[in-house]
Amino acid sequence: MNIDTVKLAYFSPTGTTRKVLNGIAEGLGANSIEQIDLTLPATDTLKPADIQNELVIFGVPVYEGRVSKTAIPRLQQLRADKTPAVIVVMYGNRDFEDALLELNDLTREMGFLPIAGGAFVGEHSFANEDRPLANGRPDTDDMKAAKEFGSKIRAKFNDLKSIDEASSITPPGNTPYIDRDRSPMEAMAATTLVEDCILCGECATVCPVGAITVEEAVITDNIACILCNACVKNCSTGARVVDDPMVNKIANWVSRNFQARRDPVTFI
Ligand SMILES: Cc1cc2nc3c(=O)[nH]c(=O)nc-3n(C[C@H](O)[C@H](O)[C@H](O)COP(=O)(O)O)c2cc1C
Ligand code: SF4
Ligand code: SF4
Repeated sequence: MNIDTVKLAYFSPTGTTRKVLNGIAEGLGANSIEQIDLTLPATDTLKPADIQNELVIFGVPVYEGRVSKTAIPRLQQLRADKTPAVIVVMYGNRDFEDALLELNDLTREMGFLPIAGGAFVGEHSFANEDRPLANGRPDTDDMKAAKEFGSKIRAKFNDLKSIDEASSITPPGNTPYIDRDRSPMEAMAATTLVEDCILCGECATVCPVGAITVEEAVITDNIACILCNACVKNCSTGARVVDDPMVNKIANWVSRNFQARRDPVTFI
């Protein structure tokens, strides 16, 4: 089968998912790679796309063991009729729990056929120098694994005469998925240290849910904030922080308890 055109469809507030998906596409050796970046709010209203005769690689971060809630309606704008797909979840070295299974089910409902999947590790959104967790990942070894995964997908395709022959994957996970609706993090948000803020507006530009307005001050919509940390990691002066006592408690606990390196796992 021909897979010269690959579309990468991802939600990636802090950029680790985007990096790994591009590594997989490189390993696949596709002639044409199209980026469908669903990270910013403008992508809430894409013209619905119907994708045929191509391969789509989906990528999302794991939030509380599940597919990021914000990503779901954005991904659902893509529709297909038995279009082959690769599904990838990125997690911060704790666990990906039911996220890969959830992404498998979601893309099937959209008409795709997930023929390969993987869980890769990226620097944890809440990590910093004081509470490191997978800092700097995906690193060289992760990117090597991403490219090797891409080569294996290419080999699987080369052996197929039609998509009907492709075997599906069975990702690990539980149904019903782990409950995320009673999360203690729901009402928390990133804040600004006024004395360090130069009102440059970068945080507002990168926020995936449009929760920030910068005029004479930085104003944050606390209900909208999903704690993705994109504003924190992109603020050049260190003025943007997630410094809620409950988030700090959870993030410090995760950092203390999940230091043992976890490597990517793939299903093909
Ligand atoms: C709200 C929230 C919840 C998260 N939950 C998990 C989790 O359950 N397990 C885990 O290992 N990492 C978790 N992470 C870390 C992210 O999955 C990880 O940092 C990922 O690489 C971020 O992807 P991105 O760089 O594409 O935004 C969470 C991050 C956030 C912001
Ligand atoms: S990115 Fe940082 S310095 Fe710039 S407006 Fe936002 S908080 Fe202020
Ligand atoms: S305000 Fe919240 S949702 Fe927006 S970038 Fe910052 S952490 Fe992410």
